[in-house]
Amino acid sequence: MKIAVIHGPNLNLAGVRQIGIYGTMSFEEMMAYIDDCAKDLGSNLQLSQFQSNHEGEILDFIHKCHFEDFDGLIINPGALTHYSHAIADAVAAVKMPALEVHLSNIHAREEFRSKSVVASSCIGQISGLGAESYLLALIYLINLGGREQ
Ligand code: DQA
Repeated sequence: MKIAVIHGPNLNLAGVRQIGIYGTMSFEEMMAYIDDCAKDLGSNLQLSQFQSNHEGEILDFIHKCHFEDFDGLIINPGALTHYSHAIADAVAAVKMPALEVHLSNIHAREEFRSKSVVASSCIGQISGLGAESYLLALIYLINLGGREQ
């Protein structure tokens, strides 16, 4: 089973930016934590993590995962969550089941953050549980058992 984890703009600054909101875990630690979760969850799980600060690169990566038959997508689109109809379209276009995750609770912050234009293309959203959001998303996608054919 192949699952992709996409980290959008500024997520590479985890552990540096607004630690009262995003926590002290660095981006490298977070990626290692997600890799470890995947290893613990199943030996036949292949995880591919990708971070970009550029919308187009994220679109290209989603398309690539589609053509490489990935079974699921976990995406934290960062601020693109709130306005990228292109990412929403890409997630809706591909056959991979997708989950949107956020480190912070986007519904308990500024009003503009409570609106996600990407969420309607996803099965669901996990928001506010820090790095554990990714663990829960992985468990969900593994239990789901892959993409539609
Ligand atoms: C975020 C929430 C977004 O509103 C913000 O722009 C981010 C991070 C989160 O993980 O909590 O960059 O996606």
